[in-house]
Amino acid sequence: MTQQTTPAGGTLLQRSGLIWYLTAAAGQLAFIWMIIAHYGRKTMSGNYQGWNDKPIIKGYVEGDEAGNLLFIVHVLLAAVITLGGLLQLIPVIRRRLPWLHRWNGRTFIVIAYILAIGGLWMTWMRPTYLSIISAVAVSVDGVLILIFATLTWRLAIKRQIEAHRKWAMRTFMVVNGVWFLRIGIMGWVLISQGGAGLTKDMSGPLDILLQFGAFLIPLSVLELYFLAQRSQHRLTKRLVSVLVLFWTAFMALGIGGAVAFMWGPYM
Ligand code: HEM
Repeated sequence: MTQQTTPAGGTLLQRSGLIWYLTAAAGQLAFIWMIIAHYGRKTMSGNYQGWNDKPIIKGYVEGDEAGNLLFIVHVLLAAVITLGGLLQLIPVIRRRLPWLHRWNGRTFIVIAYILAIGGLWMTWMRPTYLSIISAVAVSVDGVLILIFATLTWRLAIKRQIEAHRKWAMRTFMVVNGVWFLRIGIMGWVLISQGGAGLTKDMSGPLDILLQFGAFLIPLSVLELYFLAQRSQHRLTKRLVSVLVLFWTAFMALGIGGAVAFMWGPYM
């Protein structure tokens, strides 16, 4: 969200976008760290069963070579795409190192396809889910990734830069849907002091809200941010800035919770 805006009321909007980005970056670097420290280390040492030392649904399954390979490729590429997405949003890289922006963008989109298609396969064919509704939620995210990534790529090829920028940011949001879900859960666990309303198989009303909200809320806030960027009204810019800052505060809480309880023990 670190984009140029019109000056009137735009500084607050720009700053809120920057604070949001820096907060997200800190939380995503922690996610990458966990992936490398846990999955990377266990894989390098040949301790594939060790993937399951962290609470996951399936992970390593004795005798399922194809499924295990797909799982670990999915997880390790998740670290690459998360880092790639963060780099892609840095304006100075787009301006000063356009070749890096192009190659990182291509890599990001190819990995997004691999993660979405592999994720859909693991969900439905392995099968790996807690409840049907949670499988549907992550699958909708997977399908949106495929659609948005394709649009982003096509618009870049056609040199429709403004539309490309918008679809790239929408793609960033859906690709990070699984990350938003994790910090959303941890944010709620801390606010409700224990996760009131969450169920073990993620099928209750609050679970459904969190799972669909993990990509629909970021997408909605992003649309409001675009609207505020275009708007000539100072009030619109201010209200959206406040919304972004509220969301950032919730994210910071969720990141703190994730680092303390979800990823920390495996970092
Ligand atoms: C594109 C962004 C994605 C990222 C960054 C990502 C990241 C991850 C990570 C880190 C794990 C390991 C579990 C953990 O330790 O938390 C994982 C597992 C998994 N992911 Fe994804 N994922 C993405 C997309 C998807 C999509 C779109 C789907 C489904 C349609 C999916 C389905 C799965 C499944 C089924 C597992 C195995 C879970 C288990 O065995 O417990 N992923 N993913």
